[in-house]
Amino acid sequence: MSRVVFVNGRYLPYAQATIHVEDRGYQFADGVYEVCEVRGGRLVDQRRHMDRLTRSLSEISIALPISLRAFGVIMRETIQKNRVRDGLLYLQVTRGVARREHAFPPPDTHPTLVVIARSKDNRKNEISAATGISVITLKDNRWERVDIKTIGLLPNVLARQQAREQGAGEAWFVDSAGYITEGSSSNAWIVTADKTIVTRRAEHGILRGITRTVIFDVVTKLGLKIEERSFKVAEALAAKEAFLTAATQIVMPVVKIDGRSIGNGKPGPVTQALRACFHEVAEIEG
Ligand code: PDD
Repeated sequence: MSRVVFVNGRYLPYAQATIHVEDRGYQFADGVYEVCEVRGGRLVDQRRHMDRLTRSLSEISIALPISLRAFGVIMRETIQKNRVRDGLLYLQVTRGVARREHAFPPPDTHPTLVVIARSKDNRKNEISAATGISVITLKDNRWERVDIKTIGLLPNVLARQQAREQGAGEAWFVDSAGYITEGSSSNAWIVTADKTIVTRRAEHGILRGITRTVIFDVVTKLGLKIEERSFKVAEALAAKEAFLTAATQIVMPVVKIDGRSIGNGKPGPVTQALRACFHEVAEIEG
Protein backbone atom coordinates (compact mmCIF):
# COMPACT_ATOMS: atom_id res chain seq x y z
CA MET A 1 0.00 0.00 0.00
CA SER A 2 1.38 3.44 -0.89
CA ARG A 3 1.93 5.53 2.21
CA VAL A 4 1.39 9.25 2.56
CA VAL A 5 2.77 11.73 5.06
CA PHE A 6 1.35 15.13 5.96
CA VAL A 7 4.04 17.81 5.47
CA ASN A 8 3.19 21.49 5.86
CA GLY A 9 -0.30 21.38 4.42
CA ARG A 10 0.15 18.59 1.85
CA TYR A 11 -0.20 14.83 1.80
CA LEU A 12 2.93 13.55 0.06
CA PRO A 13 4.03 10.04 -0.95
CA TYR A 14 6.39 8.67 1.70
CA ALA A 15 9.49 8.85 -0.55
CA GLN A 16 8.83 12.52 -1.35
CA ALA A 17 7.96 13.63 2.16
CA THR A 18 11.06 15.75 2.77
CA ILE A 19 12.05 18.75 4.90
CA HIS A 20 14.50 21.55 4.08
CA VAL A 21 18.12 21.09 5.22
CA GLU A 22 17.90 24.30 7.26
CA ASP A 23 14.88 23.18 9.24
CA ARG A 24 15.60 24.04 12.89
CA GLY A 25 14.48 20.58 13.92
CA TYR A 26 17.31 19.15 11.83
CA GLN A 27 19.96 21.68 12.92
CA PHE A 28 19.04 22.32 16.56
CA ALA A 29 16.43 19.72 17.59
CA ASP A 30 14.31 22.86 17.99
CA GLY A 31 10.90 21.25 18.09
CA VAL A 32 8.46 19.02 19.91
CA TYR A 33 6.49 15.87 19.15
CA GLU A 34 3.74 13.50 20.21
CA VAL A 35 3.20 9.77 19.68
CA CYS A 36 -0.40 8.56 19.96
CA GLU A 37 -1.80 5.06 19.82
CA VAL A 38 -4.27 4.26 17.02
CA ARG A 39 -6.73 1.50 17.87
CA GLY A 40 -9.46 0.27 15.54
CA GLY A 41 -8.69 3.26 13.30
CA ARG A 42 -9.26 5.71 16.15
CA LEU A 43 -6.92 7.91 18.14
CA VAL A 44 -6.47 7.06 21.79
CA ASP A 45 -6.40 9.99 24.25
CA GLN A 46 -6.25 12.66 21.56
CA ARG A 47 -7.39 15.40 23.96
CA ARG A 48 -4.59 14.71 26.44
CA HIS A 49 -1.96 14.44 23.70
CA MET A 50 -3.12 17.78 22.27
CA ASP A 51 -3.01 19.38 25.72
CA ARG A 52 0.56 18.18 26.19
CA LEU A 53 1.57 19.32 22.69
CA THR A 54 0.13 22.77 23.42
CA ARG A 55 2.10 22.91 26.66
CA SER A 56 5.36 21.72 25.04
CA LEU A 57 5.02 24.33 22.29
CA SER A 58 4.30 27.07 24.79
CA GLU A 59 7.33 26.09 26.95
CA ILE A 60 9.66 26.60 23.97
CA SER A 61 7.76 29.65 22.62
CA ILE A 62 6.43 28.22 19.37
CA ALA A 63 2.90 29.38 18.59
CA LEU A 64 0.37 26.66 17.81
CA PRO A 65 0.72 26.56 13.99
CA ILE A 66 -2.92 25.59 13.33
CA SER A 67 -6.03 25.22 15.48
CA LEU A 68 -6.55 22.10 17.58
CA ARG A 69 -9.61 21.36 15.45
CA ALA A 70 -7.44 21.46 12.28
CA PHE A 71 -4.90 19.18 14.00
CA GLY A 72 -7.74 16.74 14.66
CA VAL A 73 -8.80 16.74 11.00
CA ILE A 74 -5.23 16.20 9.75
CA MET A 75 -4.56 13.40 12.22
CA ARG A 76 -7.78 11.63 11.26
CA GLU A 77 -7.11 12.06 7.53
CA THR A 78 -3.55 10.76 7.87
CA ILE A 79 -4.83 7.67 9.68
CA GLN A 80 -7.52 7.10 7.04
CA LYS A 81 -5.28 7.73 4.01
CA ASN A 82 -2.83 5.16 5.34
CA ARG A 83 -5.63 2.74 6.30
CA VAL A 84 -4.24 2.33 9.80
CA ARG A 85 -6.40 0.18 12.08
CA ASP A 86 -3.92 -0.54 14.84
CA GLY A 87 -0.74 1.49 14.94
CA LEU A 88 0.80 4.80 15.86
CA LEU A 89 0.53 8.41 14.88
CA TYR A 90 3.65 10.59 15.05
CA LEU A 91 3.28 14.36 15.04
CA GLN A 92 6.18 16.82 15.01
CA VAL A 93 6.32 20.61 15.08
CA THR A 94 9.59 22.50 14.68
CA ARG A 95 10.38 26.20 14.69
CA GLY A 96 10.62 26.08 10.89
CA VAL A 97 13.20 26.79 8.21
CA ALA A 98 15.62 29.71 8.56
CA ARG A 99 19.30 30.54 7.94
CA ARG A 100 21.30 28.92 10.74
CA GLU A 101 21.45 31.20 13.78
CA HIS A 102 20.96 30.03 17.36
CA ALA A 103 18.51 32.73 18.46
CA PHE A 104 14.92 32.51 17.23
CA PRO A 105 14.30 33.22 13.52
CA PRO A 106 12.14 36.17 12.36
CA PRO A 107 8.60 36.02 13.77
CA ASP A 108 7.07 35.35 10.34
CA THR A 109 8.91 31.99 10.10
CA HIS A 110 6.33 29.21 9.77
CA PRO A 111 6.65 26.17 12.03
CA THR A 112 7.16 22.88 10.17
CA LEU A 113 4.39 20.36 10.79
CA VAL A 114 4.69 16.66 9.99
CA VAL A 115 2.18 13.89 10.70
CA ILE A 116 2.99 10.23 10.06
CA ALA A 117 0.60 7.31 10.66
CA ARG A 118 1.86 3.76 10.63
CA SER A 119 0.29 0.34 11.17
CA LYS A 120 1.76 -1.88 13.82
CA ASP A 121 1.30 -5.58 14.49
CA ASN A 122 -0.01 -5.66 18.05
CA ARG A 123 0.81 -9.35 18.36
CA LYS A 124 4.50 -8.55 18.92
CA ASN A 125 3.56 -6.34 21.83
CA GLU A 126 1.26 -9.03 23.24
CA ILE A 127 4.03 -11.61 23.00
CA SER A 128 6.43 -9.32 24.91
CA ALA A 129 3.73 -8.58 27.49
CA ALA A 130 3.12 -12.30 28.05
CA THR A 131 6.71 -12.89 29.18
CA GLY A 132 7.78 -9.39 30.22
CA ILE A 133 10.92 -7.49 29.27
CA SER A 134 14.30 -6.71 30.84
CA VAL A 135 15.58 -3.23 31.62
CA ILE A 136 19.02 -1.91 32.46
CA THR A 137 19.70 1.14 34.63
CA LEU A 138 22.08 3.94 33.78
CA LYS A 139 22.95 7.49 34.80
CA ASP A 140 20.40 10.11 33.78
CA ASN A 141 22.48 12.55 31.73
CA ARG A 142 19.62 14.55 30.21
CA TRP A 143 18.83 18.23 30.66
CA GLU A 144 16.45 19.37 33.42
CA ARG A 145 13.44 20.11 31.21
CA VAL A 146 12.54 16.54 30.26
CA ASP A 147 8.93 17.48 31.08
CA ILE A 148 8.88 19.09 27.61
CA LYS A 149 8.45 16.48 24.87
CA THR A 150 11.24 17.79 22.64
CA ILE A 151 12.76 16.01 19.67
CA GLY A 152 16.21 16.38 21.29
CA LEU A 153 16.52 12.72 22.22
CA LEU A 154 20.22 11.87 21.86
CA PRO A 155 20.70 10.65 25.49
CA ASN A 156 17.53 8.56 25.07
CA VAL A 157 18.82 7.10 21.80
CA LEU A 158 22.19 6.19 23.33
CA ALA A 159 20.54 4.69 26.42
CA ARG A 160 18.19 2.56 24.36
CA GLN A 161 21.03 1.34 22.17
CA GLN A 162 22.98 0.36 25.29
CA ALA A 163 19.92 -1.57 26.49
CA ARG A 164 19.67 -3.36 23.15
CA GLU A 165 23.37 -4.28 23.20
CA GLN A 166 22.83 -5.83 26.63
CA GLY A 167 19.78 -7.80 25.48
CA ALA A 168 17.29 -5.53 27.29
CA GLY A 169 14.17 -3.82 25.98
CA GLU A 170 14.47 -0.52 27.83
CA ALA A 171 16.91 1.60 29.86
CA TRP A 172 15.79 3.26 33.10
CA PHE A 173 17.58 6.49 33.95
CA VAL A 174 18.82 7.02 37.51
CA ASP A 175 19.29 10.53 38.96
CA SER A 176 22.32 11.72 40.96
CA ALA A 177 20.63 10.72 44.26
CA GLY A 178 20.12 7.12 43.06
CA TYR A 179 16.40 7.41 42.25
CA ILE A 180 14.96 6.02 39.02
CA THR A 181 13.50 8.81 36.89
CA GLU A 182 11.99 7.13 33.80
CA GLY A 183 12.80 5.05 30.75
CA SER A 184 14.33 6.25 27.47
CA SER A 185 10.81 6.37 26.01
CA SER A 186 8.52 5.29 28.85
CA ASN A 187 7.59 5.92 32.48
CA ALA A 188 8.81 3.56 35.22
CA TRP A 189 6.68 1.88 37.91
CA ILE A 190 6.96 -0.69 40.69
CA VAL A 191 4.43 -2.58 42.82
CA THR A 192 5.41 -3.07 46.46
CA ALA A 193 4.82 -6.15 48.66
CA ASP A 194 1.55 -4.61 49.95
CA LYS A 195 0.39 -4.10 46.34
CA THR A 196 0.91 -0.33 46.29
CA ILE A 197 1.67 0.98 42.82
CA VAL A 198 4.52 3.49 42.91
CA THR A 199 5.69 5.98 40.32
CA ARG A 200 7.76 9.16 40.47
CA ARG A 201 6.00 12.52 40.77
CA ALA A 202 5.63 14.18 37.38
CA GLU A 203 7.63 17.29 38.05
CA HIS A 204 10.64 18.30 36.02
CA GLY A 205 12.50 14.95 36.40
CA ILE A 206 10.22 13.03 34.00
CA LEU A 207 7.79 13.43 31.15
CA ARG A 208 4.17 13.37 32.30
CA GLY A 209 3.20 10.37 30.17
CA ILE A 210 -0.34 10.26 28.87
CA THR A 211 -0.43 6.51 29.56
CA ARG A 212 0.78 7.32 33.10
CA THR A 213 -2.09 9.78 33.58
CA VAL A 214 -4.68 7.24 32.39
CA ILE A 215 -3.22 4.60 34.76
CA PHE A 216 -4.34 6.79 37.69
CA ASP A 217 -7.93 6.39 36.49
CA VAL A 218 -7.44 2.65 35.88
CA VAL A 219 -6.15 2.30 39.44
CA THR A 220 -9.26 4.06 40.78
CA LYS A 221 -11.50 1.80 38.72
CA LEU A 222 -9.76 -1.32 40.00
CA GLY A 223 -9.73 -0.07 43.61
CA LEU A 224 -5.94 -0.31 43.87
CA LYS A 225 -3.52 1.87 45.87
CA ILE A 226 -1.12 4.31 44.23
CA GLU A 227 1.69 6.46 45.58
CA GLU A 228 3.54 9.19 43.70
CA ARG A 229 7.08 9.14 45.05
CA SER A 230 10.61 8.42 43.94
CA PHE A 231 12.13 4.97 44.36
CA LYS A 232 15.72 3.76 44.23
CA VAL A 233 17.14 0.91 42.18
CA ALA A 234 17.42 -1.25 45.34
CA GLU A 235 13.69 -0.80 46.05
CA ALA A 236 12.85 -1.70 42.44
CA LEU A 237 14.99 -4.84 42.68
CA ALA A 238 13.12 -5.88 45.85
CA ALA A 239 9.68 -5.00 44.41
CA LYS A 240 6.91 -7.51 43.84
CA GLU A 241 6.36 -6.29 40.27
CA ALA A 242 7.71 -3.67 37.91
CA PHE A 243 6.37 -2.28 34.66
CA LEU A 244 6.65 0.58 32.22
CA THR A 245 4.07 2.67 30.39
CA ALA A 246 4.08 4.43 27.01
CA ALA A 247 1.63 4.98 24.16
CA THR A 248 3.68 2.49 22.13
CA GLN A 249 3.54 -0.30 24.72
CA ILE A 250 0.62 0.59 27.02
CA VAL A 251 1.55 -1.37 30.17
CA MET A 252 4.61 -3.58 29.70
CA PRO A 253 5.72 -5.92 32.51
CA VAL A 254 9.39 -5.61 33.53
CA VAL A 255 10.67 -8.93 34.84
CA LYS A 256 14.40 -8.22 35.10
CA ILE A 257 16.38 -5.16 36.11
CA ASP A 258 20.14 -5.23 35.53
CA GLY A 259 19.95 -8.99 35.05
CA ARG A 260 18.15 -9.66 38.38
CA SER A 261 14.63 -11.10 38.45
CA ILE A 262 11.80 -9.01 39.89
CA GLY A 263 9.32 -10.92 42.07
CA ASN A 264 8.97 -14.43 40.66
CA GLY A 265 10.45 -13.33 37.31
CA LYS A 266 7.05 -13.36 35.59
CA PRO A 267 4.52 -10.61 34.78
CA GLY A 268 2.60 -9.92 38.00
CA PRO A 269 -1.18 -9.80 38.58
CA VAL A 270 -1.36 -6.05 39.26
CA THR A 271 0.53 -5.23 36.05
CA GLN A 272 -1.65 -7.62 34.06
CA ALA A 273 -4.85 -6.14 35.50
CA LEU A 274 -3.75 -2.60 34.60
CA ARG A 275 -2.88 -3.70 31.07
CA ALA A 276 -6.17 -5.57 30.61
CA CYS A 277 -8.27 -2.64 31.82
CA PHE A 278 -6.39 0.22 30.11
CA HIS A 279 -8.54 0.67 26.99
CA GLU A 280 -11.77 0.58 28.99
CA VAL A 281 -10.60 3.76 30.70
CA ALA A 282 -8.62 5.60 27.98
CA GLU A 283 -10.51 8.15 25.86
CA ILE A 284 -11.03 6.70 22.39
CA GLU A 285 -12.49 9.10 19.82
CA GLY A 286 -15.84 8.54 18.13
N1 PDD B 1 7.70 8.29 24.27
N2 PDD B 1 8.97 9.26 29.07
C1 PDD B 1 9.63 9.48 27.92
C2 PDD B 1 11.03 9.97 27.98
C3 PDD B 1 8.99 9.23 26.69
O1 PDD B 1 9.66 9.45 25.54
C4 PDD B 1 7.67 8.70 26.68
C5 PDD B 1 6.94 8.41 25.41
C6 PDD B 1 7.03 8.49 27.92
C7 PDD B 1 5.62 7.97 28.01
O2 PDD B 1 4.69 8.92 27.54
P1 PDD B 1 3.30 8.48 26.92
O3 PDD B 1 2.63 7.61 27.91
O4 PDD B 1 2.59 9.76 26.70
O5 PDD B 1 3.59 7.74 25.64
C8 PDD B 1 7.70 8.79 29.10
C9 PDD B 1 7.12 8.03 22.97
C10 PDD B 1 6.18 6.87 22.96
C11 PDD B 1 8.24 7.92 21.96
O6 PDD B 1 9.17 8.72 22.05
O7 PDD B 1 8.19 7.06 21.07
